[in-house]
Amino acid sequence: MGERIVVLGGGIIGLATAFECQRRGYKVTILEKVTCGGQASGAAAGMLAPYSEIEEDPDDFFRLCLASLKLYPKWQQEVKDIAKAEFEYTNSGSLHCVYHEADLLSLESRQQWQGDFGAEADILQGEELYKREPELSKEIIAAMYYPEESHVFAPDYVKALEQACRNIGVQIYEQLEQVDVVNWEEEIHLVAKDGQSFTGDRLVICSGAWASELEGTFGLSIPVHPIRGQICAYDMPVGKVKHILYSSQGYLVPKGNGTLVNGASEDIAGFNTTVTERGIRRLTNWNKNVLPYLANEIPFHEWAGLRPATQDGYPLIGKLSTAPHVIFATGHYRNGILLSPVTAHIVADLLEGQRDRVPLQMFAPERFS
Ligand code: FAD
Ligand code: GLY
Repeated sequence: MGERIVVLGGGIIGLATAFECQRRGYKVTILEKVTCGGQASGAAAGMLAPYSEIEEDPDDFFRLCLASLKLYPKWQQEVKDIAKAEFEYTNSGSLHCVYHEADLLSLESRQQWQGDFGAEADILQGEELYKREPELSKEIIAAMYYPEESHVFAPDYVKALEQACRNIGVQIYEQLEQVDVVNWEEEIHLVAKDGQSFTGDRLVICSGAWASELEGTFGLSIPVHPIRGQICAYDMPVGKVKHILYSSQGYLVPKGNGTLVNGASEDIAGFNTTVTERGIRRLTNWNKNVLPYLANEIPFHEWAGLRPATQDGYPLIGKLSTAPHVIFATGHYRNGILLSPVTAHIVADLLEGQRDRVPLQMFAPERFS
């Protein structure tokens, strides 16, 4: 124990990993080129929604998401206690809405396979549905109610996690502009643009959408690319909308601070995080089909973030077979907030040489090489 762990990247994945590893007795340093949580993690809607987000048949990725959802109640409380800070974590439940009779079949099929995984899932229609969410459009013919789906206020969660890390002794270096891995095969050695040098025993790569920059360093194919998410928020009286509302076109998340978050586009724009009129218009044109009252409302805030997407849609989580002291934890695409506790636990387990808590084969970082 007491080994020195260098975490590259201070987004939610780097912070969560650092928090868990430091708690288990490692000496952790985070290297962040700008500010912790300043990229995708601070931009997220904060949904913890594996049932709504995953449409395909069950696989180990779904198992990973589910494992993380189950860790959340305890995890978020531990972060709050150690940070001595609050952030919103609401068990709102969600409604996955459909508009056509034909879509009922797909709801039923989801209900069946997700039920096999222990999901609570009820198909609501008519009065039962509108009683649960009175503002919903009458065009919606049915919705799947997932009582377990929840959400956090992502910017505050990131801040609390950073504070929790600091409170337990994680060293955090920000504004490093550029950090290069100069040695990883035997010892870990990184150098920042200003010449500061960092050494360690193990290295954890948590650099989100920028992970592909390390292809040359490790001689690996790392097909992680940025997918921009444009998103906006409305002022809304607390309680007017109660659940996360999900449809094939996007989602709406009612926050406890009196805002309604409406996301999000998926567009390719390199590392550009500007918001376009077209991107937001797509959301504002669609959202009144879920909540008609939005037809008369204007978003008060618009922003964008870069999801770290991989070629096959699954994250890279695991050790390098040729250099097991290097661990990847990146490429969490649409579910990094949800996956932060389980990723942190998996990385700490890998450092300790524990058995995998979920099968990791499909997340192997070298699978594209
Ligand atoms: P990031 O937060 O991007 O952090 C990576 C960090 O690494 C950055 O701070 C960067 O500066 C740093 N870095 C990169 N290279 C280097 C280097 N060489 N040296 C030092 N630092 C480096 N997920 C959910 O679970 N639920 C949601 O509801 C949800 N909604 C979303 C909505 C939007 C609009 C977007 C954009 C994303 C959403 N996501 C959601 C996805 C989630 O935000 C991401 O999966 C998650 O934030 C990824 O975390 P990360 O730490 O890997 O990446
Ligand atoms: N998970 C929601 C998003 O990525 O937009």
